[in-house]
Amino acid sequence: MRAIYLIGFMGAGKTTVSQELARRLNVAVYDTDEEIVKRTGMSINEIFAAEGEEKFRHYEAEVLRSLPSTNAVIATGGGIVGRTGNRLFLKGKRNVVYLHAELESILARLKEDDSRPLLKQDKMKTAKALYESRLPLYRETAEFEIDTSVKTVQQIVD
Ligand code: S3P
Repeated sequence: MRAIYLIGFMGAGKTTVSQELARRLNVAVYDTDEEIVKRTGMSINEIFAAEGEEKFRHYEAEVLRSLPSTNAVIATGGGIVGRTGNRLFLKGKRNVVYLHAELESILARLKEDDSRPLLKQDKMKTAKALYESRLPLYRETAEFEIDTSVKTVQQIVD
């Protein structure tokens, strides 16, 4: 089976869905953020603070290319579509699913979360601007789109 890549904004449910989908398909599951943390020994917040976003994006692009491209479900970080090279790489893989959620539901889910450095400062404004700039990138990269707003994890996986 070709790997299935999940893309979408922070809080869209990529990690949760990837785990359940991999369980059902009986294949391995990976998460690009988790791999970066494993390989660098630092948290995402620590990488942003100590090395900056560009370095994080470099790790992210490397990890994306190093993960198995068969028999796996791969959850990606919300910013993976920022680099043209990543978008082309993903398009080439074809099994890319965009998990779409409305900004309102994302903000509600992320309210208490401080593990995401990009949302630290002015949460609402930053999130809205990022969301709007990324929406077309998710759509151009993915072959499939699922609206997660009113679905359970089981329904999304089905
Ligand atoms: C980011 C999303 C995060 C993580 C990092 C940057 C982004 O992943 O990669 O904080 O730029 O949207 P999740 O989408 O899993 O939260």
